[in-house]
Order: sequence, then structure tokens, then C-alpha cells
Amino acid sequence: MEFGLRDRVAVVLAASRGFGFAAAQALAKEKCRVAICSRSKSSIDNAGKKIKSETGVMVIAQSVNVQNKNELAGFFHNVQEKWGKIDILVSNAGGPPVKNFEDTIEEEWAEWFETTFMSVVRSIQLVLPQMKLQKWGRIINIASITVKSPLSGLTYSNALRLGVIGLAKSLANELGPFGITVNNVAPGYHLTDGLERIIRKKIENGLQRDEIISQWTDAIPVRRLGAPEDLAGLIAFLASQQAGYINGATIQVDGGMYSGSL
Ligand SMILES: NC(=O)c1ccc[n+]([C@@H]2O[C@H](COP(=O)([O-])OP(=O)(O)OC[C@H]3O[C@@H](n4cnc5c(N)ncnc54)[C@H](OP(=O)(O)O)[C@@H]3O)[C@@H](O)[C@H]2O)c1
Repeated sequence: MEFGLRDRVAVVLAASRGFGFAAAQALAKEKCRVAICSRSKSSIDNAGKKIKSETGVMVIAQSVNVQNKNELAGFFHNVQEKWGKIDILVSNAGGPPVKNFEDTIEEEWAEWFETTFMSVVRSIQLVLPQMKLQKWGRIINIASITVKSPLSGLTYSNALRLGVIGLAKSLANELGPFGITVNNVAPGYHLTDGLERIIRKKIENGLQRDEIISQWTDAIPVRRLGAPEDLAGLIAFLASQQAGYINGATIQVDGGMYSGSL
């Protein structure tokens, strides 16, 4: 199926690897021009080269820390200046550390509020004026299954990501009349570097790798961890012409792990 995305401009945050990279790659395969960022210059340059060589689309790759509002603004201005528009925003950032509530600390709450919530607020502020003018836009936030069902030890994620869901639902109402849709994707366990860090932490606490993975997969009806591409396919679809009537939704991609009916 053609998604009608040829020559659309997509900005994907935190995209040198994992979900962000897979999302940018999927959009590039649909012939979007993609602008990607991450903190490490060499990693984001390599990611940009890979996408360009695989798909032939134009790519902007920039070193940006999404916690830094000036760097974030500079990135969006650069894309606007070079390509004149932004049609699709995929918000993403590195995930907060694994901690139970009693191990959380004030400074980290502030840091992860900036990273998980304010980077989304600021990115949307930066793309809105022009999306409203052109009366077309797609905003897709990468959240987590923790917004539907909290996971133990993921206190920062369980708490802070719900702000993004509330924001998206509120914006879906405000922006729908301008042809802009706002949706969230809620991944379960996918094998990325991010998940490998969680696995390493559990190994340090005495568990075996196989044991950790089978504890997860036993609770996933399709009996496997996801790959980043499993989430990226949904992101490309939500960006498509065909998805114009999906707005304000939070869709899980978790192999059926979430046990609620809705
Ligand atoms: N993997 C899972 O199973 C899973 C499940 C649910 C939710 N999530 C969430 O989904 C998001 C992405 O996860 P992932 O597994 O793809 O992570 P990942 O494999 O660790 O990749 C993270 C990406 O974000 C970039 N990044 C990190 N912090 C950044 C910052 N402050 N500014 C700019 N770029 C930044 C990294 O590049 P640099 O190091 O170069 O900055 C990298 O490209 C995270 O919020 C994670 O918690 C993951």
C-alpha cells in the first residue's frame, strides 16, 4: 500500500538507533525527507548515511540533546530553513532509569520531566505554526506500554509519560480542525540498546539473560520480544494519508502483553 508520503518532511527525534532510527528508516522508505537527531554526532551522522544509502532520500542529521531547548529549537529552525516545512513530527527521547519510587531523587525527577515531557511540548510548539498554516500535520509520540499498565521499577516512566498522553489527547481536540492529528504509540518489550541496558542491570542483580527474556516472553502472547521495525510500521502508517481519521489514540505494540480489553 502506498502511504502518500512522497516528499513529506519528517522530523524524528532521538533517532541514531532503536525506535527513532527504525521510524526514520520506515518513513524514508515511504520517500519522506527525514531530519534526525541524537546527542552523539558520529552516531547520528552514521545513521543519516545509512538511511540515505538505503533509500536515496534527502537526510538532515544533527547532533542535538532534546533536553536542551536551544539545541532543539536550532534543529527545527535548520530543517525549516533548508526544506521550508515540517509535515510529520515523531517525538522520542532516551528512557528514564529503572528505579522504585523510594530510590528516585528530586534532580532526576526534574531531568526526566524535561526529557520525557518538556521535549515533546517544545517540539510541538516549534512545528505547530507552520502545520496550522498548511492545514496538514502528523504528530506521533513514542511513549511506552507503561501508560496503559505501569511496570514495576519504572517509576519515572510510569508517572511522567502519562503527561504526554494527556497532552496529546488535548491537542487532538485543538488541532483536528487544522488537519493535524496527534497520536501516541505505546511499545512493549522490544530488543533495542535501551532494553539491553535494562537486561544488563538485571544481570548485575544476579539474573541470567535467558531467564530475564523468558520471564518477559512468557507474558507476551506472541512469545517473542519485538523488533524496532515492529513499532516503526505503525508509526509510518499513522503518518500516512490513510490514517487521517485516527486522532487522539494511544496504540500499544506489545505482542498482546497488555491484558486490558481496551
Ligand atoms: N525498547 C523498549 O522495549 C521500550 C519499550 C517502551 C518504551 N521505550 C522507550 O522508547 C524510547 C526509545 O527507546 P529505545 O529502546 O529505542 O532506546 P535506545 O535504543 O537506547 O535509543 C535511544 C536513542 O535516543 C537517543 N537519545 C537518548 N537521549 C537523547 C537526548 N537527550 N537527546 C537526543 N537524543 C537522545 C540515542 O542517541 P544518543 O545516545 O546519540 O543521544 C539513541 O538514538 C525510550 O524513551 C524508551 O524508554 C522503549
